[in-house]
Amino acid sequence: MKNKKLLLASIILVFLAVVGFQLVDQNLHMLQSPGAQINDYQEFDYGLGSSYVDSLKKYPDLKDGEIAPFNLWEYAGKGKSSFDSPELLMSWEEWIDFHKKQKPELMEDVRQYMSGRFDFNGEVMANQFMSGQRKPIMAGPIARLSKGISSFEKLAGLSPDEIKKRDLFPYKPLAHPLQTTAHMVFPDEWNKAHPEHQRIDLDHDIPAEYLPEFPPPMFLTTHKELGDISEGREVTLSNYFEIFDGLITAEQLEGLKELLKPTPTTWFNHTLHRVTLEPGAGVSCFSCHVNGHTNGAFEVAPDSRPNFARLRVDTPTMRGNYNLMQLASKRSIRSMDHFAEVEEYFDGDPGMQQAIGPRSQKREVTNRMGDFNAILDFAPAPKLGPLDKLFPDKATKQELLGEKIFFGKGQCSSCHSGPAFVDDYLHDLQVERFYKGRPEGPIKTFPLRGIKDSPPYLHDGRCPTLADAVEFFNLVLELELSKEEKNALVAYMICL
Ligand code: HEC
Ligand code: HEC
Repeated sequence: MKNKKLLLASIILVFLAVVGFQLVDQNLHMLQSPGAQINDYQEFDYGLGSSYVDSLKKYPDLKDGEIAPFNLWEYAGKGKSSFDSPELLMSWEEWIDFHKKQKPELMEDVRQYMSGRFDFNGEVMANQFMSGQRKPIMAGPIARLSKGISSFEKLAGLSPDEIKKRDLFPYKPLAHPLQTTAHMVFPDEWNKAHPEHQRIDLDHDIPAEYLPEFPPPMFLTTHKELGDISEGREVTLSNYFEIFDGLITAEQLEGLKELLKPTPTTWFNHTLHRVTLEPGAGVSCFSCHVNGHTNGAFEVAPDSRPNFARLRVDTPTMRGNYNLMQLASKRSIRSMDHFAEVEEYFDGDPGMQQAIGPRSQKREVTNRMGDFNAILDFAPAPKLGPLDKLFPDKATKQELLGEKIFFGKGQCSSCHSGPAFVDDYLHDLQVERFYKGRPEGPIKTFPLRGIKDSPPYLHDGRCPTLADAVEFFNLVLELELSKEEKNALVAYMICL
């Protein structure tokens, strides 16, 4: 009897425990802890000016392929989603027809906009050439000044506030000319050699004279005695073995092969999500970083959303990456093998990867790519000594004056120093002090070693010539340098 009661009590207890546990379990799944919240939260402007965000426009609601404003810096806001769709919003035939009609109109607008901002007059600097010794270095500055401002010196005499108020800043950001689809835009010279990369929707917007030489020479840290290892050729999958076998290690050869191998990427692939007429194998690292340098192709940075917030980025060189601790303008990538692994062909969007085919490279493969990247050297700088100072007997008076200003009055060396002329930090230059627009935030310092070979300048190429880059820093750092001092800085940077 006693045992039966005990048994019954135990059964009831177990039953209650099971039901109770399930109820609690269900509630656990449904309830989240509320999190801390300040109830009387007030917005502060943190010194940016109370109406900063309110004064910017909301991003327009546009579909893939539709023309976005060129002055995207005046816009801000949140997009509908961080994810993209691999589906075209129309049939393939409609997509082609749409761009056939739109492209000539768009390119006419782009040409007008660019020639409104820059005077691409084709003037070259006397007797100054890029490292291949064929392509002249372009004279500048070529950014156009507003009416009523007669010289860059007059402009530099105004305060940042006044320049902003009167809308006089000549170096506002540069947007991708078709930011809705965005992605890679190759220069015409490249497309002539690689017609599979010609886009149906737009062309490059900077004249060939203002872009790097093509094909550029290629220098190896391990074979300085050989000079340009490519001997004037573009290194490709079909000639790399003949050029490099017996000169570099088997591991480096393997890495180079991978850097040359095309893989599908956003808008450049074999599916209908593409901007090339024919289906293609995609692009390789060297499609933009040709011969380990750059052909001036531009992209949008993979670091932000919505798409409209992504900054235009000009392809940097891979030369001398062995001396850089910071890779990419904003992503703070710390190694070359990591870069080869993540190079965000698909912007890391899993939906896109599934549709186009993932680029998942094994770790040992991306390590080898990094290993080859590590032997790509800067071009020779015969006037520069072992302590990265000009040899006084080899440099001209003007170049030596440039060096003095670089390390003195110009304060350039506070961010550009050491063997690559870079400090490996990101800096917020706060350029938005000079124009009304969305701040771009911290950007990495780019190395100045070999800089004459990599126009256009700054992350988005808004400074087509070295002289424009000097005018940019003269304004942004409020240096008020004389014309003579600015010319000397240009002459000095050509020696680096
Ligand atoms: C659109 C053409 C394009 C292709 C293809 C491309 N890159 Fe780049 N690369 C760029 C651009 C643009 C940047 C600047 C990115 C940024 O600032 O966020 C860059 C930056 C880099 C950097 C950092 C350089 C620096 O000075 O910070 C490395 C390293 C690099 N790429 C390696 C690669 C490798 C490896 C591949 C192939 C897996 C590759 N790239 C493919 C355009 C390209
Ligand atoms: C506060 C740090 C800082 C100082 C000082 C500075 N720079 Fe820079 N420099 C940068 C940063 C950051 C960038 C990249 C900016 C961007 O891309 O928007 C850059 C980019 C450049 C570029 C373009 C590099 C490229 O690959 O496109 C040139 C040229 C340049 N600087 C020259 C100078 C000169 C000349 C001076 C002195 C008058 C100077 N800088 C002073 C930080 C600095």
